[in-house]
This record gives sequence, structure tokens and C-alpha cells, in this order.
Amino acid sequence: MTPDERLSLQEEIVKLKTQKKAIILSHNYQRDEVQEIADFVGDSLELSRTAATIDCEIILFAGVTFMAESAAILSPDKIVLTTELDAICPMADMIRVDSPRPEIKKFPGFDNPPSYVFPREFTLKDIKNRYKGVPVVAYVNTTADVKAESYICCTSANVVKVIESLPDDRVICIPDKNLSRWAAKNTKKEVIAWDGFCHVHERVRVEDVIKARKEHPNALIMAHPECRLEVLEMADHVTSTSGMLRYAKASTGKEFIVGTEIGLLYRLRKENPDKIFYPLRKDMVCPQMKKTTLKSLLRSLRENSYLIQLPENIRVSAKIALDRMLMVR
Ligand code: 13P
Ligand code: SF4
Repeated sequence: MTPDERLSLQEEIVKLKTQKKAIILSHNYQRDEVQEIADFVGDSLELSRTAATIDCEIILFAGVTFMAESAAILSPDKIVLTTELDAICPMADMIRVDSPRPEIKKFPGFDNPPSYVFPREFTLKDIKNRYKGVPVVAYVNTTADVKAESYICCTSANVVKVIESLPDDRVICIPDKNLSRWAAKNTKKEVIAWDGFCHVHERVRVEDVIKARKEHPNALIMAHPECRLEVLEMADHVTSTSGMLRYAKASTGKEFIVGTEIGLLYRLRKENPDKIFYPLRKDMVCPQMKKTTLKSLLRSLRENSYLIQLPENIRVSAKIALDRMLMVR
């Protein structure tokens, strides 16, 4: 795309978004140019909070579909659009309410098959039956119907606080086994984990951390809790994407190794021009997050596509789980 084409796309998006009283929300992993044109860029917790309180007629979500669904759950009076219908988080797809996953999907770039068994033969209802009365804490990276069957939601930023807020001594944490292990390490409660994972973070190995430390001995390592526990244990700081932005800004350190999807490097570099950021692995790219482009933003605004519509009973039950999370401070 030529700079002129890009400029005219940007102008058209701004014009339409003002005309239609639309707000663009973008996750920190989106393409640079999408983050640039968004009204708000953040992590899952910040995006949920913004979606719940924002004043506009249309919310256009640049992220993956569960994020747009969360906005639709929290804002029933608004039109909520997702830029790409097939931008589905593979981890969110690893748990189903009552029909098991039909197949194991191969993820691009995932060259190290996990050694554990996929939970194909289980469903959320199965695990709830097995541990009757144990509350389900659903990571926001889940579909609306899974949230609707859960007690409370959490994000990578508040998982420990959410678990601690519950009176129970044990909880079921779905779907990310890595986030669950991290939470278990940071709470005295028993955490029953689901066998899901994010292929972008799961691929990071201890050897990658050793290599990065060797290459950049003065750098601090930040890692997302979707990474394996053994990787997290080697990091200097474990936090959500926006937590990394805050940590890098506040730190006296000058160099940072970033253990999350590389889209975050755009804001890290922009907000800290005097500091240096290296990806922990250059292939930490989420293809689903990259599906949204300036062209798809414009198409969404022109056509009001793709509209997120949820059955009202699912929306109401999922909202209870999200609201419970938003009450936890
Ligand atoms: P956060 O931005 O909440 O840390 O989430 C990361 C993520 O993987 C979202 O898909
Ligand atoms: Fe899902 Fe991982 Fe992509 Fe986040 S980075 S949307 S968890 S696959």
C-alpha cells in the first residue's frame, strides 16, 4: 500500500467513525496501523472496562471475536461489530459447553506438539459434574456460552485477585493451563486446570529464555502468564500486556525482552523512545489478531459488519460472570 492510499483509508475511517458515532477498541496485539487509528488500545481487562462504560452508538472491535462478544455482552444497547468473523482465538475454541471439540487443529508455526492429551473427550459440563459445587473461573478468552456456564470471569491481569475474591478453597480455572498454573503458584487455593493453551505463548521454551539472556545480558525479561510455568519462573516480571507497558515505563532498566505477542512492541517502543525492546521469540505472532487491517476497519464501518448477536439468555448469564469480575478490585 502506498503512503497516499494509507492516508486516504485513514481519512475515510475517521470520517465514517465520527459520522456514525463509532468508537474503535483495539487490543495491544493489533497491527501498528490499527492501534494508531483506534480510540482506545488496551489489555483484556481495560477493554472490558471500557466496553462497559463507553458512550457511543457503535463499538467496532479490532481484536478476536471473544473480545467483541464481551463488548456485546456488556453493552446490549449498542451496535457491536467485529472486523473479522473468523478471527477466533484458538485457545477459546479449546473448551466447549457440551459438545466436545470435533478435531485437533494444527496451528501455524507450532512445531512442538504438546506431550499432554487434548481434552477432546471432555466438556465444560463434564468438569462441572466431576467437581460439583466448585466455582468455574473462566478466562475472558472463552466464548459467550462458556462464560454463561461459568461463575466468574478473569483476565491475565486479575486472575489471582479473582480467585482470592471467592470464598471457596478450590476453583476450576478454564481454559488456559499455563495461566492456571501461574495462578495456583500465587494463591493458597487449589486450582483445577483445563488442558488448553495459547500456541503463541506455549511455544516459548526455557532454551529461548537462556538464549535471550545471553544475547542481551542487561535486559529485563517480561513474560505473559500464558507462557509455560518454567518460562515464567525465569522472568523478571510476569504480567498482562498493559502490565508490561506500565512496568517498562516505571522501570529504571533500559533494555527489555518481551515475552508476549510482538504487536505489543509497537506501543512499548512508541511510549519509551529511550528504551530498547527485543521479542523473546520473533515468531510470537498471533495470526488471528493480525486479520484486522485498515481495509477491514473501513468495510466494517461502511457495512455495519460483522454484527455480534447473542441469544439473550446466554448474554444475560455471561454478563453476570463478567460483572462479577468487574466488581473485583
Ligand atoms: P491481555 O492483553 O489481557 O494480557 O491478554 C492477552 C491475550 O492473549 C489476549 O488474547
Ligand atoms: Fe488467543 Fe493466544 Fe491469539 Fe491471544 S495470542 S488471541 S490467547 S491465540
